[in-house]
Amino acid sequence: MSIDIKGPFIVTGASGQLGSQVIENLLAQGAEPLVAITRTPEKLAALLGRGVDVRAGDFNDPATLGAAFAGGGRLLIISTDDLEPGKRLAAHRNAIAAAQDAGVSHIVYTSLTNPDESSPITFAADHRETEALIKQTGIPHTILRNCLYADLLLQSGQQAINAGALYAAAGEGKAGYVTREDCARAAAAALLSETGSTLRDITGPEVVGHAEIAAILSKVSGKKIPYVSITRDALVEAMVKNGLPEFVADVFSSFDVAIATENLDVASHEVEKLTGQKAESVRDFLLANKTALTGQA
Ligand SMILES: NC(=O)c1ccc[n+]([C@@H]2O[C@H](COP(=O)([O-])OP(=O)(O)OC[C@H]3O[C@@H](n4cnc5c(N)ncnc54)[C@H](OP(=O)(O)O)[C@@H]3O)[C@@H](O)[C@H]2O)c1
Repeated sequence: MSIDIKGPFIVTGASGQLGSQVIENLLAQGAEPLVAITRTPEKLAALLGRGVDVRAGDFNDPATLGAAFAGGGRLLIISTDDLEPGKRLAAHRNAIAAAQDAGVSHIVYTSLTNPDESSPITFAADHRETEALIKQTGIPHTILRNCLYADLLLQSGQQAINAGALYAAAGEGKAGYVTREDCARAAAAALLSETGSTLRDITGPEVVGHAEIAAILSKVSGKKIPYVSITRDALVEAMVKNGLPEFVADVFSSFDVAIATENLDVASHEVEKLTGQKAESVRDFLLANKTALTGQA
């Protein structure tokens, strides 16, 4: 893709799994100047030698953000991973205020599919209200409503293969799972090319239900893995038994409820529209990750 929009291109959360893939994608496309913001600049020392301006920035510490965003540019705000209700929104509020103070010209934000009030996902309000704060700035923006990462299925898929069944509280619902890599490609493309203000559903190419996921896991493992639909309470109980704190089990199980209630039943072609390349299907992704799922090549 040719770059006719001027930077600097600024990526927050640059040491995270998504952020580091976005940085690699931008480097591969020759985006410059490129600014990587992280709470842990020491982790990104190698980027300095590749021409990236690595800056310290912590959304929970507004005093760090003036220097982080100094000079403005086009900014990708990667949502933080704080699950404690309200904390993530407060952090995002700091980032958005600092972006406005720095004269940022475009904001790209990684949101969530259908974060409206009916969303059963425990932290949907953080995304909904962050979207509203971004709109209120009047700065041109791109909201990327990322669906569930297909990558999350690697862990649950591995557990299912070990247990001999895929247990979930997703009923017969489906979700537009999208790979983290496709989310990174979409975010990089939005940072490089979007003008005006847009809202995009970033999803895989089709919606997929758990019966189909179980069938793919059966193919990957060579064992019959049935889907067993259980209640949310039973799922939370099993997660807690496996060592997850109840609060985290509550968050994860809310994804299943969102699937069951068709809140995540969204498939779009936005990845392809933004990047020129189709999003990877859950089937192709899981088949390509056989080793991670089964421990066998
Ligand atoms: N769609 C999905 O299924 C799904 C799944 C998991 C997460 N997510 C969301 O997508 C985001 C990126 O996913 P990921 O896989 O890259 O997660 P990850 O590897 O856990 O990364 C967490 C990210 O949050 C950033 N962060 C945390 N606290 C911060 C703070 N106080 N100030 C600034 N940045 C902060 C981190 O940046 P540094 O460490 O570099 O400072 C890092 O980029 C997550 O943070 C979460 O909001 C979506």
